[in-house]
Amino acid sequence: MAQRAVLNTDIRKGTINRNIYGHFSEHLGRCIYEGIWVGEDSPIPNTKGIRNDVVKALKEIQVPVLRWPGGCFADEYHWKDGIGEREGRKRMINTHWGGTVENNHFGTHEFMELCAMLECEPYINGNVGSGTVQEMSEWVEYLTFNGVSPMAELRMKNGREEAWAVKYFGVGNENWGCGGNMRPEFYADLYRQFQTYVRNYGDNKIHRIACGPNSDDYHWMEVLMREAAKFMDSITLHYYTVPGATWEHKGAATGFETSEYFTTLEKALHMEELVSRHSVIMDKYDPEKRVGLIVDEWGTWYDVEPGTNPGFLYQQNSIRDALVAGLTLNIFHKHSDRVRMANIAQTINVLQAVILTEGEKMLLTPTYHVFNMYKVHQDAELLDLTLDSGSYSYDGKEIPEVSASASVTAEGVIHVSLCNLNHASAAVLPLELRGLAGKAVQISGTTLAGATIDAHNSFSEPEAVAPQPFTAFKLEGDTLTVELPAMSVTVLEITPN
Ligand code: AHR
Repeated sequence: MAQRAVLNTDIRKGTINRNIYGHFSEHLGRCIYEGIWVGEDSPIPNTKGIRNDVVKALKEIQVPVLRWPGGCFADEYHWKDGIGEREGRKRMINTHWGGTVENNHFGTHEFMELCAMLECEPYINGNVGSGTVQEMSEWVEYLTFNGVSPMAELRMKNGREEAWAVKYFGVGNENWGCGGNMRPEFYADLYRQFQTYVRNYGDNKIHRIACGPNSDDYHWMEVLMREAAKFMDSITLHYYTVPGATWEHKGAATGFETSEYFTTLEKALHMEELVSRHSVIMDKYDPEKRVGLIVDEWGTWYDVEPGTNPGFLYQQNSIRDALVAGLTLNIFHKHSDRVRMANIAQTINVLQAVILTEGEKMLLTPTYHVFNMYKVHQDAELLDLTLDSGSYSYDGKEIPEVSASASVTAEGVIHVSLCNLNHASAAVLPLELRGLAGKAVQISGTTLAGATIDAHNSFSEPEAVAPQPFTAFKLEGDTLTVELPAMSVTVLEITPN
């Protein structure tokens, strides 16, 4: 049972970087092809080959930054294969993901067009594992150089006169694994070498991102920070929530037992420990907190949907995923002094997607709704919130029942996001509103709840899990008592008059 919380509306703890609400889209399964790119001749309504329904939905959640082209694909990707006349582009097998034919129709120009449509920052991940320093350096030149140069000329020949603005550039991905199986000492040296040629041209200032650890590989973080911190602006962290005990049995996305529901949330909460412990190492080498921590792959990873290509990583998305999203974003808020960006994996049709498509049909997942409800936190000021969350027990194990976070916008509107993780009962939480100096307040709320532990949206029932107005609150004096439904994510809006 939840106990109580105190919200200090007058104590601000720094800005929640909007990039914490970032996304990741890889050439994997049906994320790019079908999910985003359908081609100009497709009967699916599109603009310049990019589907209109998906762009509209992603604009609604205010995607601030989009990472591309991978993932593991990034260290196999040779960007020159994806420019020029589409019909003349190289066809190849996507050996890493599903063995399908990659026709390279979605390349640099198409990605930059997508970011322009979404009005988001591009985050491009370069190839260290199978690429060269020259290849990476030329990509940056092609993208961002406005003067006379071979790559600028090539870009112009391909129809783009002006250089693009590209801020975020990743130097390799998972170089401890699919990106080359390197030791941290070796990668640290390679990182130092490659990033030297990731140049700033004109006004374009690149934020250089080093490949950081997998999950709790604290040794990797230690070595990278020790050997290369001064050459980087950020370092990454990857952590996936996998309920099953083995990679072969990760667990199903729907139709799972209550014990799996509980384990999933317990494992998702592990993000708190990971971010805290990696931050301690970063503090040792960078006490001024100049270097950001970018969690550029996170989310749930289950067994693929029965009958689908195992290399496509297609999974359903339920209220359990909404809770993982809500509690993880709350953790990122808390650490926003170090966590400057995060990218959920992956935008469409892959892993913890916000959108699923089936041909011309599209649906919004419970995770999408959380991103939409939480967007009010983007660039808001984090508020001090003390929470005695109570506990939620199952099968002899215990986790906090409620996860919460609060922020205030530039206009003074307060938002509190609350997740009740308990599958069986509502959580009653008295929330003391401190620091409002006797001002009256207007309160409203939205909640997303599930009737069952795997409640989800399908193409026959696309709105089974959808946000509803939240009215189960009562203000008495300074105390706002909320009754959060079982398995729910709620966002309150408190406007002082
Ligand atoms: O998101 C799927 C894969 O997970 C990415 O390609 C890789 O970086 C990670 O292992």
